[in-house]
Amino acid sequence: LASIEFDLTKVQEGQQVVIKWQGKPVFVRYRTPAELQRVIADDHAPDLKQPQTDAERTKPGHEPYLVVIGSCTHLGCVPTFGAGDYGGWFCPCHGSHYDASGRIRKGPAPLNLVVPDYEYLSDTRVKIG
Ligand code: FES
Repeated sequence: LASIEFDLTKVQEGQQVVIKWQGKPVFVRYRTPAELQRVIADDHAPDLKQPQTDAERTKPGHEPYLVVIGSCTHLGCVPTFGAGDYGGWFCPCHGSHYDASGRIRKGPAPLNLVVPDYEYLSDTRVKIG
């Protein structure tokens, strides 16, 4: 399947849903206001290895939702939700810490979790791919 559609009402605030797309896990995360505040406050943090603002990683008007490929950019393990020093994800394989924007903050991974191509079909429906 080249693309898949996902209904955002299936993910609760503060949680993520993992879907499969082209054999890869995709994390769809509905961030809380506190998480969103924290990632925006960190938009220019000095420890960002691949500096990107949260706005560059989401779609305008849909900021609480983050869509990323669930594959650590070090060697491809699946990072654990809600863990690590930045409240985003933690990769247990070699200890990479990602924030709730999926940006790499600490550990061996070189790059942020990848945001796939996706678009909003409506306020509650996204098409990935
Ligand atoms: Fe994630 Fe190595 S694969 S830290």
